[in-house]
Amino acid sequence: MAELIFPEGFLWGSATSSYQIEGAYNEDGRGMSIWDEFCRTPGKVMNGDTGDVACDHYHRYEDDIELMSEIGLKGYRFSIAWARILPYGLGSINEAGLDFYDRVVDRLLEKGITPYATLYHWDLPQVLQNAGGWPARATVEAFANYADVVSKRLGDRVKNWITHNEPWVVAFLGHALGIHAPGDEDWEAALATAHNVLLSHGRAVNILRENGDENTRVGITLNLTWADAASNDEEHFAAAKRMDGYQNRWFLDPVFKGEYPADMLEIYGEVPGLQDGDLAEINVPIDFLGINYYNRAVVKDGAGVGPMKLQFVEPEGEYTEMEWEVHPESLYKVLKRVHEDYAPAEIYITENGASYKDEVAPDGSVHDTQRLNFLKGHFVSAHKAIEEGVPLKGYFVWSLLDNFEWALGYDKRFGITYVDFETQERILKDSGKWYSTVIEKNGVDD
Ligand code: FCB
Repeated sequence: MAELIFPEGFLWGSATSSYQIEGAYNEDGRGMSIWDEFCRTPGKVMNGDTGDVACDHYHRYEDDIELMSEIGLKGYRFSIAWARILPYGLGSINEAGLDFYDRVVDRLLEKGITPYATLYHWDLPQVLQNAGGWPARATVEAFANYADVVSKRLGDRVKNWITHNEPWVVAFLGHALGIHAPGDEDWEAALATAHNVLLSHGRAVNILRENGDENTRVGITLNLTWADAASNDEEHFAAAKRMDGYQNRWFLDPVFKGEYPADMLEIYGEVPGLQDGDLAEINVPIDFLGINYYNRAVVKDGAGVGPMKLQFVEPEGEYTEMEWEVHPESLYKVLKRVHEDYAPAEIYITENGASYKDEVAPDGSVHDTQRLNFLKGHFVSAHKAIEEGVPLKGYFVWSLLDNFEWALGYDKRFGITYVDFETQERILKDSGKWYSTVIEKNGVDD
């Protein structure tokens, strides 16, 4: 058993997002978002769950930050609810919404925890959806205005910004596969969304920098996967390449190379809404890339996923409650590949974690050994990538708290802290206690 020590100053953190934890959906002037609406559409979210209360973090943020401090977190990644700041998407500013994030940021800084703020983690103001949503180019302008308003208020203290969380999910789960809000099933709309989200990223980068100072750093978070072919047959390799294009390159190439991948353009035809100059805007240099990694994809050629013509295969192995394969080796491969093919200046794992069936034991503890082992395996993989020269600077475990897991409601627990949704009691799980020791040692036992 060797102790693997991480580079000095490695930023150990944890992540959450606004809709998943805040609750207080109609308080202090917050407007409605597409997730409020989606949750109210019968059949869309498991058990009819909503984020109306969630972890009640809006009222309990002080205790939650105290908990972060007890764990020893160096960084905290959270997202800002657009509709708390601009209830109508554009126009009048809700000062009470800004005040909330002011308080959160001040408290984090008091505790020595560096805030990483994500502007968009999927909760588009419903009014903007009614006006066309992400497929409409006007939403790009609205986002730029939102980025301006938020960074004018917080930019003196928030130095690390993430424009978007997982544009792939926004585009394809939200607009092609209908699994997430707003629930569309239209590939054309999904491609327009992907493009507009990327364009809005490019515009926001400049605004965030203008409203900041020389220490301001801006990035984007992509959910990347490693695509393996189900067998050595050529058609399955081609399917794996399409999978890689669909989830990874469609976003990495425009951000880092200022172009869409040619093989995918052949499949999709044209990019709806693409205008001259857009790709140059999207290609603005960024300070870091955020990677959310959960699992690899094993695919074969087949009829599925619309024009992608592929099918997912479930190889033998270990799976989490999400039915996602546990595959830490692929995190290493993703990191190496991104470093070699795209060379971002810095990389952060902005999410990684696992859902398991947790129970409170008679002694009042939550013995989530599987989650602990999951995290350990992934930390070891990350360490190996760093040893080989990947500029990985930090790691945010998903999630600080059990929370509202989108279309799966409260059925899936991802927290290193258990939340009793009846009483709002928090219990740091064994994985959370162990994570504390990792942070303290800045290392992990192999
Ligand atoms: C990611 C999301 C995050 C959470 C995890 C499990 O795709 O960014 O909000 O739901 O998955």
